[in-house]
Amino acid sequence: MSDTTEIRKGLVGVVADRTAVSKVNVETNSLLYRGYPVQELAAMCSFEDVVHLLWNGDLPTPEQRERALALERSHRELGDRLMGVIERLPDETHPMDVVRTAVSVMGGEDPTAWSTDPDEIREKALILIAKVPAVVAYIQRHRRGLPLVPPREDLGYAANFLWMTFGEEPDETVRKAFDVSMTLYAEHSFNASTFTARVVTSTLSDYYSAVVAAIGALKGPLHGGANEAVMRTFDEIGSADRVGPWLDDALAAKRKVMGFGHRVYKRGDSRVPTMKASLDTLVAHYDRPDIAELYDTLETEFVSRKGIYPNLDYPSGPAYHLMGFDTELFTPIFVMARIAGWTAHIQEQLADNALIRPLSVYDGVPERHLDGYVADAAHVAAATRQEEMAG
Ligand code: COA
Repeated sequence: MSDTTEIRKGLVGVVADRTAVSKVNVETNSLLYRGYPVQELAAMCSFEDVVHLLWNGDLPTPEQRERALALERSHRELGDRLMGVIERLPDETHPMDVVRTAVSVMGGEDPTAWSTDPDEIREKALILIAKVPAVVAYIQRHRRGLPLVPPREDLGYAANFLWMTFGEEPDETVRKAFDVSMTLYAEHSFNASTFTARVVTSTLSDYYSAVVAAIGALKGPLHGGANEAVMRTFDEIGSADRVGPWLDDALAAKRKVMGFGHRVYKRGDSRVPTMKASLDTLVAHYDRPDIAELYDTLETEFVSRKGIYPNLDYPSGPAYHLMGFDTELFTPIFVMARIAGWTAHIQEQLADNALIRPLSVYDGVPERHLDGYVADAAHVAAATRQEEMAG
């Protein structure tokens, strides 16, 4: 490799593989899951059906739906051992670290964790889809000094999660908005956490290790952590009339305004209008026009000054806030949804695997040698002993 080798820092513009899971089309500003526009799926399908679509390539038949729902509903309880580990974590552990640890424990408890059989991976993944919401609900309640509410098998995925978290059946507006957010967050081609999951899978490591690594990648504020960061920005600004001066300071300090910008979309994120419509229903439901005003003012000002558009985290952050979640819970909620996409990509990677291992251009110090180096005496003695024994 010569000094003139082109380096694509951040792999910008690099096409790493093919995928049949989803298509991000920047020109038409659209996102398709297995061919279906995500907006149609969000409007017409439950998150459970979207999970089936991503993992199996098609929406479920009534029989397939019934089987999958029964399996998911039967795995919503956290076992004693898993609860025991979570309860022993320090109270100040970040919720993302709790979720990451919980998935690790689930891997440790699974005697077939190494399986690469597609059916077995789907079953492991469905158990994660069932249990991770219970972990997230536990974290939220523990932070408020409240006991865990047991899951209800008569409720769908979104309603049961809201029930376990808040201890009451959600209003339909809230349930629907939450379900829509799950569908929109479920999958997004070769984003950083999905690519991480594919890298780990490409070494033929196990399913849980790939998910744990992906959670680590999602935690960062440039990726999933942005939905939390949006809410902190809203808190910092306080009200719509303070957007202008806040933005002057932020841009002068070259701060990134979280919830805006995207590596792939440069003319707006295709998921935003759908989530914004859900946010509008929540604003009306909770009678919080102040949030809508702050949202609109920051968006208008930022877009007019920078020409950079909001991404999905911009409407989902305030939406989760209105639903009553602590800000630190927003990214763990993103995990609940993205397990769907990670799993589809893990399966796809396994089906036609090639170890992912890029190259680099070395630009460190030129070759040098240990002449004149004063070695540690104990180390030299051990090396001499080893040579004597060998020879
Ligand atoms: N606020 C302020 N400036 C931003 C910005 C933001 N949210 N997003 C991009 N920019 C600016 C950069 O400062 C950079 O300006 P420069 O060329 O003067 O240095 C330019 O736009 C390109 O940004 P860059 O970060 O190199 O582009 P990217 O394609 O690597 O970035 C993100 C994509 C997502 C990392 C970036 O937009 C970002 O950090 N956004 C905020 C975090 C966020 O919301 N993440 C969730 C993504 S779904």
